[in-house]
Amino acid sequence: MRGTLVRLRPIAREDLPRFVAWIADPEVRRFLSFYRPVSLDAEEHWLEGLSKAGNQEVFAIETLEGRHIGSVGLHDIHPRYRCAEAGIFIGEREYWNKGYGTDAMRLLLDFGFGQLNLHRIFLHVHAGNQRAIRSYDKCGFVREGLLRQAVYKDGEYQDVIVMAILKAEYRSIEGEA
Ligand SMILES: CC(C)(COP(=O)(O)OP(=O)(O)OC[C@H]1O[C@@H](n2cnc3c(N)ncnc32)[C@H](O)[C@@H]1OP(=O)(O)O)[C@@H](O)C(=O)NCCC(=O)NCCS
Repeated sequence: MRGTLVRLRPIAREDLPRFVAWIADPEVRRFLSFYRPVSLDAEEHWLEGLSKAGNQEVFAIETLEGRHIGSVGLHDIHPRYRCAEAGIFIGEREYWNKGYGTDAMRLLLDFGFGQLNLHRIFLHVHAGNQRAIRSYDKCGFVREGLLRQAVYKDGEYQDVIVMAILKAEYRSIEGEA
């Protein structure tokens, strides 16, 4: 799947050492569920599980020039409610704030609504993660609520915002574009 800045493709075994290096960076981990570095073995195990699980769709994000910079995916895809939870991270920090994450998330929404026929895509974001919140705003996600002190990270409890977008909302934004 190709956007204006990035392409989404399946994750390959050769990508895994980059995931290990990115997750070892505390600044990358800061707003993610990882609380420590992970091993290559653990990443290999994760990738094997991904291919077996029928309820997740995870992609590598690469620039149009072919550099692998992160990953984005849909988790807990619910067959009856037709909803899923989105997650994203760009591990190459020099690519932050340049539109790559927003482009990748838009491609994921295209895929979720256009190919999987989802009805609702939601996500959880730490209230302090302003860059991510702005990116999700740009994609059309709406704030639905606040989970107070829902995660413990870096020595303190932090609030988490729930954001979501419905297929009809996405289609109307697309129609305007
Ligand atoms: C979150 C993430 C995916 C966003 O992707 P990105 O490519 O950096 O984001 P974009 O450049 O598309 O958009 C970022 C927007 O936030 C804005 N922004 C950056 N820092 C900000 C801040 N402190 N306050 C408000 N807005 C901010 C940028 O200016 C930009 O908005 P603009 O286009 O209107 O100028 C990426 O930064 C990332 O992976 N971060 C680390 C992991 C992470 O936090 N993952 C998300 C977990 S929920």
